[in-house]
Amino acid sequence: MKSLIKKDKIRQRISSLARKISRDYKGKELVLVGVLKGGFVFLADLIRQITLPLEIDFIQLASYGASTTSSGVIKVKKDIDLPIAGKDVLVVEDIVDYGYTMDYLLQFLADKKARSVKLCALLDKPARRKVKVRIDYRGFKVPDKFIVGYGLDCDEKFRNLPDIAYLEK
Ligand code: IMP
Ligand code: MG
Repeated sequence: MKSLIKKDKIRQRISSLARKISRDYKGKELVLVGVLKGGFVFLADLIRQITLPLEIDFIQLASYGASTTSSGVIKVKKDIDLPIAGKDVLVVEDIVDYGYTMDYLLQFLADKKARSVKLCALLDKPARRKVKVRIDYRGFKVPDKFIVGYGLDCDEKFRNLPDIAYLEK
C-alpha cells in the first residue's frame, strides 16, 4: 500500500472545490446526490465547506462483473427519495474509471426532470475511460492503479484510511 494523496492535500482541494460550487450555485436549489458507498466520506467533508442552503440524498448503484471493475451494465440498487424535478442536482462520486457508472447515473437523474445535473468527482482515472463523461468539478487525476482510502474500498476494506492510497500488485 502506497500513499498517493495525503489528507492535508485532500482537505485543501476540497475547500477550493467547495468555494467554486458555492459561487456557481448561488441562488439555485442545490441537491447533492452522494453515490454510495464510495462517495460518502468525500460528501461529508465537501458539504461542510459549502456555504449555501442545500439538500442531500443518496443513491446506490450495482454493476455486474468482477468486483474491481464495472461491466457497463448498471442497475439502481437504492434510488433517491427527494423529488428533484426543477432542482439543480450535483452528483458526488468517488472515482470515474471506465465512465459507465456516471454515464448511466447522469442520464437517470436527468430523466427525473432535474433543472440541471452536474458531476463532482473526487478522482478521475482517465487511462481506462470507455465512454466520455463530463466532470464539472474534479478533485484529482490519478494514475491507472487500484485506489483505496478516503471512502474507496477493495473488497469493502480500507474505506477508513485518511489518505488516498493505492494497492501494489
Ligand atoms: P466506472 O467508471 O463505471 O468504471 O465505475 C466507477 C466505479 O468503480 C466507482 O464508483 C468505484 O466504485 C469503482 N472503482 C473504479 N476504480 C476504482 C478504484 O481504483 N478503487 C476503488 N473503486 C474503484
Ligand atoms: Mg462508486
